[in-house]
Amino acid sequence: MTRISCPVMTTRITDADSAAAVVRPGDHVGLSGFTGAGYPKAVPGALARQMAEAHDRGEEFRIGLWTGASTAPDADGALAAVDGVSSRLPYNSDPTLRRLINAGAVDYIDEHLSHSAQHMWFGFYGNLDVAVVEVTAILPGGVLVPSTSVGNNKTWLDRADRVILEVNHWQPRELEGFHDIYYGATLPPNRKPIQLTEPMQRIGEPYLHVDPHKVVAVVETNHPDRNSPFTAPDETSEAIAGHVLDFLRHEVAAGRMPPSLLPLQSGVGNVANAVLAGLDGSEFTDLVAFTEVVQDGMLDLLDSGTLRAASATSLGLSELGAKRFMANIEAYKGRILLRSEEISNHPELVRRLGVIAMNGMIEADIYGNVNSTHVMGSSIMNGIGGSGDFARNAFLSFFLTPSTAKGGAISTIVPMVSHVDHTEHDVHVVVTEHGLADLRGKSPRARAKQVIANCAHPLFRDALVSYTERAWQAHPHGRHTPHLLGEALSWHQRYLETGRM
Ligand code: COA
Repeated sequence: MTRISCPVMTTRITDADSAAAVVRPGDHVGLSGFTGAGYPKAVPGALARQMAEAHDRGEEFRIGLWTGASTAPDADGALAAVDGVSSRLPYNSDPTLRRLINAGAVDYIDEHLSHSAQHMWFGFYGNLDVAVVEVTAILPGGVLVPSTSVGNNKTWLDRADRVILEVNHWQPRELEGFHDIYYGATLPPNRKPIQLTEPMQRIGEPYLHVDPHKVVAVVETNHPDRNSPFTAPDETSEAIAGHVLDFLRHEVAAGRMPPSLLPLQSGVGNVANAVLAGLDGSEFTDLVAFTEVVQDGMLDLLDSGTLRAASATSLGLSELGAKRFMANIEAYKGRILLRSEEISNHPELVRRLGVIAMNGMIEADIYGNVNSTHVMGSSIMNGIGGSGDFARNAFLSFFLTPSTAKGGAISTIVPMVSHVDHTEHDVHVVVTEHGLADLRGKSPRARAKQVIANCAHPLFRDALVSYTERAWQAHPHGRHTPHLLGEALSWHQRYLETGRM
């Protein structure tokens, strides 16, 4: 069955190599994709081959690469492998690209995901030369059925000079109706309140739009999305999930939230996934998610009925998860809604809905500042992603991590974080496998006592207590947030020099 029913667009059908030839050295290229879902499957690889050939001829061929968030090895990875990326935004988790960023060979602009569309519109990133966007189908008049992620596609399609569409036959045609694309006024000075008061409310339309005359190529593909499955929860992540669940029970008992909780946001990583697994089989039911990614753990919750419905920007499912989704796709319609990331992560909506945010982290300090992005202060891991959009505006903001990293050599609770993504003002609850520190309504010293006693690994606890006591003694006139500045980051330095904190 044809997936392309727009006469103008049918004249543009071509192969991936010819489409990729539209991209010129130095271009800014906006790809679709948010996790390994909905990214273009053919053009990035073809472009990477053309870059490699140009490099063999001694010609420079690199691009500025923009996306919704992370993509997959055959997009980010392929372009990074041929040294084809000069700059990257707003989020990356590809290991090859990470190495190049940390080697100083690629400029990385790590931004709140809710900011990227607005920053693009106002030209902070420069002009968008080419958009390469995967869709499920093209309807008459340039109306597009989106695929498994929306991300920044609306903005890329609106703003790009030239557009390449990939129509992926692997994506189920029944995806039509799973999207809610908001075309309301989102830019100052004409910004209007976004009339969304319930996570599953529709405020837009099921389609993306593009001016057919900008479409320079249409490529048909038949390739699966590519998301790795999470590792099954282990003892540590189960313990962290257990503390989170106990705390939610405590909040319900205190009358601070209903038994069906408040809308859930679950971040990336194995620990966040373990919390979802913990919720399944708990007494909580009729939950709803207002989040970025529906991953396998959320599909489990939808299947068991624990989760009533989920609003997100990506269906980031593993191979098995995708099969399950497709086998039962009509039953998920109306229970999963995919939006642009400027809406899924919108601070106004996160605050209005009273979201419970649960995100992973690299480390927290005794006063509650959180580092989500940098190892030892200098090397980026992934990026801030949506964690700041949610944490800053959430009703309840959790940050989760095992108490140690690298086989116990590193304490993830430290005197001072080596990089700050979330300040103490945006962090409500810190959780490790040892326990949980509720930082709400507490002074810095009260926070430090809780974080050390409840969250630090016993092997590092005495050293942290000693640090806070000596800092207190050293500052008769600076006892609000006492620090020994010379010593604060020596923990990280010690690890760099000796391999142990
Ligand atoms: N010091 C050094 N390395 C550390 C560390 C620390 N304090 N804490 C974690 N790490 C390393 C781990 O060793 C691991 O490295 P490896 O891949 O070489 O083994 C890596 O960081 C990932 O850690 P892991 O324990 O597997 O955590 P995770 O899968 O739960 O991910 C984050 C944790 C912080 C990397 C992840 O949550 C993230 O990228 N967060 C930022 C973006 C975000 O929150 N997005 C969600 C918004 S919706």
